[in-house]
Amino acid sequence: MSDDATTTPVRLVHVGLGNWGLDWEANAVPPVAEVERVAVVDGHAPTLRAAQERLGLPDDRCFSSLAEAFAAVDAEAVLVTAPMVAHVPLAIEALDAGKHVLVEKPFAGTVAEARTAVELAEERGLVLQVSQNYRFRPAAQAARRLVAEGAVGELSVVHADFRRWDHDAAVGDSRHYAFPHPLLYDMAIHHFDLLRMVTGRDAVSVYAKVTDPSWSKYEEEAAAVVVVELEGGLVASYRGSWVSQAPQTTWDGEWSVEGRDGRITFTGRGATLEEEQVELRVGHGPDRGALEPVELPAPGLVGRAAGLQQLARAVRGGPPPEVTGRSNLASVALMEAAVRSAASGRVEDVEQVLPAEVLS
Ligand SMILES: NC(=O)c1ccc[n+]([C@@H]2O[C@H](COP(=O)([O-])OP(=O)(O)OC[C@H]3O[C@@H](n4cnc5c(N)ncnc54)[C@H](O)[C@@H]3O)[C@@H](O)[C@H]2O)c1
Repeated sequence: MSDDATTTPVRLVHVGLGNWGLDWEANAVPPVAEVERVAVVDGHAPTLRAAQERLGLPDDRCFSSLAEAFAAVDAEAVLVTAPMVAHVPLAIEALDAGKHVLVEKPFAGTVAEARTAVELAEERGLVLQVSQNYRFRPAAQAARRLVAEGAVGELSVVHADFRRWDHDAAVGDSRHYAFPHPLLYDMAIHHFDLLRMVTGRDAVSVYAKVTDPSWSKYEEEAAAVVVVELEGGLVASYRGSWVSQAPQTTWDGEWSVEGRDGRITFTGRGATLEEEQVELRVGHGPDRGALEPVELPAPGLVGRAAGLQQLARAVRGGPPPEVTGRSNLASVALMEAAVRSAASGRVEDVEQVLPAEVLS
């Protein structure tokens, strides 16, 4: 590969220019020098027009389908920020056309569906990455490092809490209430993925009790209490709510990671990096000291931009991204098993949706 080929920006088509897609265009794509967004696609004509206007793009950069964009523009990769139901179909269309793919979370509602894209990408030798942006933040990264270094010794338990009040949307902004599994698909996937990342362990089984109070505007669960067993018998609790009256957490939630020799707490992904916080207490017994703040290194790119940079580098022959489609199957599996548990009322084995050999 020539130097030019390794240093020229990856030519990216961006499909799905709704609320979050426009936010990518404003905040996540521009900081990544390694990509050039060469076209935008949205199947909804008014949304496409609004995006064209907002981004100041000429007609020959705006398309109503991936097929039209691929016919008109020389592209190497596709960023998918359409709703979940369209993730795998769009990824497959892009992979079939020989393009690398970065797809928003949740990758898919089931492991079986996600696997179709994973297998196609591997057959074609293309990068397929899932944007689990909460990973690429200073607090979560530091918590992972501390656990891996054994700062608190062998882990005993993990607790994670996510509390928001998202119940006052004006008419017209209320689509969230009709989302399929607004807590487990839309939000807990982030926390399930962080749980795997911070502990370095995959989930073995899960029990999920969901609730949707009689006054809730949500069509499906507004909140859930979940117990996860991870490899090695480690147990985690997760409480998530869109209708919480308690003090609100940041998007990451509030985490307590406890071990034989101490405790790590962390929170993050607030509006600013100042809200990233990690605290550590080492010691046991009554004389143990207080939690002390852990200094967080100044990050380079964070969140979605960090993931997009990984895609570009992988396309140009660098290391694979941290969250490949295949590795993300373990987070999708925990989410899917939690949904199954909520329906069955039983503990569900994660292996039933993701046989161990699929990850190896
Ligand atoms: N990671 C995060 O922190 C985060 C935050 C918000 C949303 N998201 C994710 O981003 C995605 C999009 O969310 P949103 O709120 O912007 O949704 P949205 O419904 O506002 O926008 C999605 C857009 O995709 C377009 N679209 C759908 N199917 C298409 C297809 N086949 N071809 C072309 N265009 C198509 C729609 O017309 C729409 O304009 C979801 O997967 C959501 O989970 C992630």
